[in-house]
Amino acid sequence: MLDLGRQPRFHRPRNRDLADLEALTALLSDAGFLSAKEEADALLARAAGDLEVLHSLVERRLTGEPLAWIVGHISFCGVAIRVDPGVYVPRWQSEPLARRAVERLPADGVAIDLCTGTGAIARTLTTARPFARVVASDIDERAVACAAANGAEVYRGDLFEPLPRILEGHVDVVVGVVPYVPTPALPLLQRDTFAFESPLSYDGGPDGTKILRRVMIDSPRFLRHGGALLLELGGKQADALRDDLARLGYVDVTVLRDEDGDERGIEATLGAQR
Ligand SMILES: C[S@@+](CC[C@H](N)C(=O)[O-])C[C@H]1O[C@@H](n2cnc3c(N)ncnc32)[C@H](O)[C@@H]1O
Repeated sequence: MLDLGRQPRFHRPRNRDLADLEALTALLSDAGFLSAKEEADALLARAAGDLEVLHSLVERRLTGEPLAWIVGHISFCGVAIRVDPGVYVPRWQSEPLARRAVERLPADGVAIDLCTGTGAIARTLTTARPFARVVASDIDERAVACAAANGAEVYRGDLFEPLPRILEGHVDVVVGVVPYVPTPALPLLQRDTFAFESPLSYDGGPDGTKILRRVMIDSPRFLRHGGALLLELGGKQADALRDDLARLGYVDVTVLRDEDGDERGIEATLGAQR
């Protein structure tokens, strides 16, 4: 049965009430879900009229389990992406980085999507540039299986380590939403995050830049001169990385910001002289 013990102010809904869009929206809204109507729509669609299934889906959602794991997919850059339980759910905040990666990728170019998760960025790239070669990597077995199911050419292992050596020096774009949350800030993430997701997706070391720096250092081996490095980051991490980027031979370093002016990423080009 639906366990509303954690949420005592709710009326225990009957199965048939859950099937009503308005009632389910109200239930989810009362439970604190901001996009309650969209979530109700998605849960009803996933249950396809089966009340028992709907009941168990709603029960899972009320525990805080990510909606994408429950319904099995999300839309990223307008592309339907399968999301398996246990795999990081791509965030809409990463879409501008993916779109910028598309812009930097020639029609028949080569791209690497590091820490690919579901393969959402890799899929975005191949959808927009069907004649490009896009390879991806992730260290997590479930992510690799999910990315493969999403059609990515994906390799399991640490960052660049599992990728085909033949690509060295020929890559137009290295893009990554790598873990970049400072370890001390992990407890500040949403309450439900680690009830379901793994710190492996978030933990960027003491100041959050540990993996970002590893990618900056290793990318020149794969990038062609003039190729782009695009990394998601946050806080003031761009400033912390700027000098090292210059020292490593990157030029035209640009901080990517969202509509609120917050730092969301960094774009750099591998210069000719190193
Ligand atoms: C924040 S998630 C991003 C996933 C995907 N890029 C996205 O935006 O949806 C980070 C991913 O990095 C993977 N990861 C963590 N450390 C890694 C490493 N050293 N090498 C490869 N993948 C790693 C995790 O398994 C996780 O899937």
